[in-house]
Amino acid sequence: MDNLTCRELIKAEKVTKRFGNLVAVDNVNFVLYENEMAGIVGSNGAGKTTFFNVLTGYFFPDDGKVFYENQDVTRISPQKRVGMGMMRTFQLTSTFDNLKVVDNMSLSFFRAHRTSSTFRLLTNTLAAFRGEERIWKCLEDFDLASVANREVKHLSLGEKRRLEIAMAVLAEPKVLLLDEPLAGLSESEISGLLGILQSHAHKQTILLVEHKISKVQDI
Ligand SMILES: Nc1ncnc2c1ncn2[C@@H]1O[C@H](COP(=O)(O)OP(=O)(O)OP(=O)(O)O)[C@@H](O)[C@H]1O
Ligand SMILES: [Mg+2]
Repeated sequence: MDNLTCRELIKAEKVTKRFGNLVAVDNVNFVLYENEMAGIVGSNGAGKTTFFNVLTGYFFPDDGKVFYENQDVTRISPQKRVGMGMMRTFQLTSTFDNLKVVDNMSLSFFRAHRTSSTFRLLTNTLAAFRGEERIWKCLEDFDLASVANREVKHLSLGEKRRLEIAMAVLAEPKVLLLDEPLAGLSESEISGLLGILQSHAHKQTILLVEHKISKVQDI
């Protein structure tokens, strides 16, 4: 990390998560610094997603603590952690495939900013948000402007993955946690996405999970 800031953003202290007799996460210590782009690497079943779930509040650990900005969040709900600036994507995609790219972005923007009432969303439909500048800036940053009016079901996997991350970024989180964002992508899609993430990394902290170290060692 060549950055001058080294404030601890997320810290896991001796975190253990068991499922019955199976110890999925075993006494893990981990620190993610502000403005860092870091990766967690491990084979299938190593416990990466479980650890992500503990960091983001979907699981509470059996032992150990999780801190966010020096605050103990071990038993705080995922929703509250999102409100504090922690945003994650899931290993499986979570877009509305029958909607256009720009409308998925509009939904995300609405959810994050709640600039207008649900009533306005329902009456004016998502079109009301299509003009939002931040949506278009984000579509450009993630190389999606040219497919903005395409339905998500017609996107390539790489485009869809970029959309999911763009949707998370629209909420302007302090930290972005990405669970296997490179899975299933071709070499060119991987280098495209890593390039985008790297150019994005100076704006926010990014933690990503990957099971092949060769894919992420360069970053
Ligand atoms: N909800 C659950 N209930 C019971 N066992 C679980 C649960 N979630 C995960 N496990 C088990 O915990 C271990 C770790 O799983 P986890 O999904 O965290 O691994 P992973 O590193 O994310 O793997 P992958 O690379 O395949 O995504 C595995 O043995 C898995 O079967
Ligand atoms: Mg996983």
